Amino acid sequence: MVDVARMSEAEAANRLMRLAREIAKHDRLYHDRDTPEISDADYDALVAENRAIEAAFPQLVRDDSPSKRVGHLPSSPLSKVTHAKPMLSLDNAFEADDVREFLGRVRRFLKLVPEAPVTLTAEPKIDGLSCSLRYEGGRLVLAATRGDGSVGEDVTANARTIDDIPETVEGAPQVLEVRGEVYMATEDFAALNARQEKAGEKVFANPRNAAAGSFRQKDASVTKARPLRFFAHGWGEISALPRETQSGMVDWLRGLGFPVDPMFVTCEGAEAALEHYDAIQEARPDLGYEIDGVVYKVDRLDWQERLGQVARAPRWALAHKFPAEQAETVLEAIDIQVGRTGKLTPVGRLKPIGVGGVIVSNVTLHNFDEIDRLGVRPGDRVRVQRAGDVIPQIVANLSDAAGRDPYPRPATCPVCDSEAVAEEGEVDIRCTGGLICPAQRFERLKHFVSRGAMDIDGLGEKSIAEFLELGWIEKPSDIFELHRHREALLKREGWKETSVDKLLAAIDARRGFDAARFLFGLGIRHVGAVTARDLMKAFGSIEALQEAARGETPIADLTAVDGVGEVVAQAVVDFFHEPHNREEVARLIARAAPAPYVVETVDSDWAGKTIVFTGKLEAVSRDEAKAQAERLGAKAAGSVSSKTDLLVAGPGAGSKLKKAQELGVRVMSEEEWLAEVAKA
Ligand code: IVH
Repeated sequence: MVDVARMSEAEAANRLMRLAREIAKHDRLYHDRDTPEISDADYDALVAENRAIEAAFPQLVRDDSPSKRVGHLPSSPLSKVTHAKPMLSLDNAFEADDVREFLGRVRRFLKLVPEAPVTLTAEPKIDGLSCSLRYEGGRLVLAATRGDGSVGEDVTANARTIDDIPETVEGAPQVLEVRGEVYMATEDFAALNARQEKAGEKVFANPRNAAAGSFRQKDASVTKARPLRFFAHGWGEISALPRETQSGMVDWLRGLGFPVDPMFVTCEGAEAALEHYDAIQEARPDLGYEIDGVVYKVDRLDWQERLGQVARAPRWALAHKFPAEQAETVLEAIDIQVGRTGKLTPVGRLKPIGVGGVIVSNVTLHNFDEIDRLGVRPGDRVRVQRAGDVIPQIVANLSDAAGRDPYPRPATCPVCDSEAVAEEGEVDIRCTGGLICPAQRFERLKHFVSRGAMDIDGLGEKSIAEFLELGWIEKPSDIFELHRHREALLKREGWKETSVDKLLAAIDARRGFDAARFLFGLGIRHVGAVTARDLMKAFGSIEALQEAARGETPIADLTAVDGVGEVVAQAVVDFFHEPHNREEVARLIARAAPAPYVVETVDSDWAGKTIVFTGKLEAVSRDEAKAQAERLGAKAAGSVSSKTDLLVAGPGAGSKLKKAQELGVRVMSEEEWLAEVAKA
């Protein structure tokens, strides 16, 4: 891993940008397409690196930081819509000088003299979620979330429930897309959380999460019951542009009936813009909604047009973020949480304190080395910091911590009392209880049914907790015996015949399912979905893998598989070494009969060749394309190198296409590829 202590701020910002993109890409591959390209361990290393850099440079935490996402939102049931014009994001600045430099860049790009007047607009950066509202003939016809900027989700019915969003507008051109921010006022957020808590429902961490959770609902009546608001700050497709400046357009939108932030102003040059930054920062506590910075835009639209964009951010706009917020309180306790693989994570419990409008009562401590680094103990006064909605952290211990011994490491798991150990060279301490540990059991069941693994619809966290509590399921194989409890389940609150039968059918549909998914679902350390597939491709069945893992030369036999190194091999051997794991595997095989993993190949010119798919495939999913390649005897790879024989590029192909062209690799379209498949 990189040496964070030696990083300059610029290097850190750059690396964080790359990590955000890379981690988001792997999240999508893993969760939405089920085609991860890297191992779980490599993924975890990226996340850890991101966390380490953010801890050292909290002012650089990005809007789209992976640490801000509490897991990846599962592919939502809302349908997808492609934006007529992409929804862009913004470059961030943290210092006044960054803003001056921004203006310098703008002037140089436009070939203006250094003192040339440039009018900017300045307005609060609302901490909500962006939304695009499409009006045709003055009627709202489509509302979409930003999504990845190109494709968002259809939230039309939800948008219609928001009072701030007009259903019809008079005097609008034929096509008008209004873009802005859906948010929840702080007061409404507090009231919603109080109601949720009383009803025993989920409490939201902050207004932004509450707004997102309320807006991205399949059932618009849920959205209707939530107090959402909207501010317009821009536009997308528009059939006739009625004004020549950003401020003119914003005025015009206000005139059409869209709410616009009251602190929107125009300023002449950087110094005036910075003055407005101070004014907004001062007004911040009283605005009644959360903001996390100020957005500056070049006012003249002809200049915006000329400036264009780099990657996904316009050259004509900049987000000037507020510094992270801090507060002081008392660390009341240090608890330990147990994860899926048994990792024990210390969590600090605080005397609740408001930090930038949000009540904070927990802080992450990452691991026990971090407790020693901070030198904290329960009872200490600490300074906590919240940047955006990253899980708050302790940044300093304000009590005298001199001469303290290292914090005692737990010798046993706090949940199941099994021995807890730190592996050589690792900071993490793990519970060795495996499936005996209730905390690990719950996390593992969740993993087993997750999308990348068995993908069992209707068996969510709540049901797993319920069935665990009832003692109906303790381990994955029990899921396949759940039908025995059908009658009892029907008598339980919240379950109806249709929902019960749907769940049982979803489970039945997974009998005889792909062995690689079963293997991944077992949650063996370091065995991600790709590794599971590599292993099943080589061994064909879980039984054969187990035999190899229990054989005379297991490490050599396992590392002989493409993509499997010593760490993975050792983890597989360790897993099958445990009698309780072997028993569980035997039960799973008996109850759910995983289908052997067979790749039937046909004779083709592509046998032995390496193929890479990139860009958006339109007729087939990426999984299917890879399977097609395998069926033709070819290998589907994730990145382009001199060993690549063919790149199949769909729309939006980027760096891989460029590299293939540089290397002289043959490139074809999806259509041409499908013709090859049809030939074989
Ligand atoms: S303008 C082309 N103005 O910030 C520029 N964005 O970090 C598009 N945001 O996705 C954005 N307040 O959702 C703009 N006053 C404001 C904003 C704002 C909040 C959000 C927006 C965007 C994100 C980028």
